[in-house]
Amino acid sequence: MNPKKTENKMQIRETRHSELDTILSVARSAFGSDEVPDLVRDLLSDPTANPTLSLLAFDGDRAVGHILFTSAQMEPEAPLSISILAPLAVVPDRQKQGIGRKLIEHGLRMLRESGIDLVFVLGHPAYYPRHGFRTAGWLGFNAPYPIPEKDADAWMVQALQPGKCISYKGTVICAEKLNRPEHWRE
Ligand SMILES: CC(C)(COP(=O)(O)OP(=O)(O)OC[C@H]1O[C@@H](n2cnc3c(N)ncnc32)[C@H](O)[C@@H]1OP(=O)(O)O)[C@@H](O)C(=O)NCCC(=O)NCCS
Repeated sequence: MNPKKTENKMQIRETRHSELDTILSVARSAFGSDEVPDLVRDLLSDPTANPTLSLLAFDGDRAVGHILFTSAQMEPEAPLSISILAPLAVVPDRQKQGIGRKLIEHGLRMLRESGIDLVFVLGHPAYYPRHGFRTAGWLGFNAPYPIPEKDADAWMVQALQPGKCISYKGTVICAEKLNRPEHWRE
């Protein structure tokens, strides 16, 4: 299969309520267990996660990737709009073909346009810096649960409205369904 050729057919769009099973199936296929799909389902029905941004990538009729952003707050309170990227999933036979990158770029563009200031992620420190994320701890942003020193680089942030966020520091308060220690281990 020629990845370039299939990329041309790729479509990314916001998910519909009727697509929950499709979203969960992409997450299950990518992560190989029910833990992450359960979290996605919980977050999509968690009012404290709103506004969410949920995007599916389609190759023709087939859903091949999903990304979810959920709302967060800062403590102490700050006049910032904050989002957390979690999770990102690409089905195994379509990984390493740029689908993850496209979902991240598409999501960040939409969040920037909607006025979101900061996007956080706890993820692979070799992957997300390719998409503009930088270590958050050094900038003074704590995760909802302490991240072990050895994984400090995995807690990352990206400012979408340059110049606005520089003077703020604090602890990120995530949606209730994400606010469990097991979700904050890399
Ligand atoms: C991680 C994931 C979303 C990346 O999606 P993708 O579509 O395969 O990624 P892209 O095609 O945009 O990028 C591929 C590149 O990222 C690298 N990459 C993928 N997963 C990586 C990881 N866990 N750590 C470091 N680099 C990784 C690949 O090696 C590849 O590098 P290359 O371009 O030098 O060959 C996908 O592999 C996946 O769903 N994995 C299982 C679930 C998961 O771990 N999700 C992330 C949760 S934070």
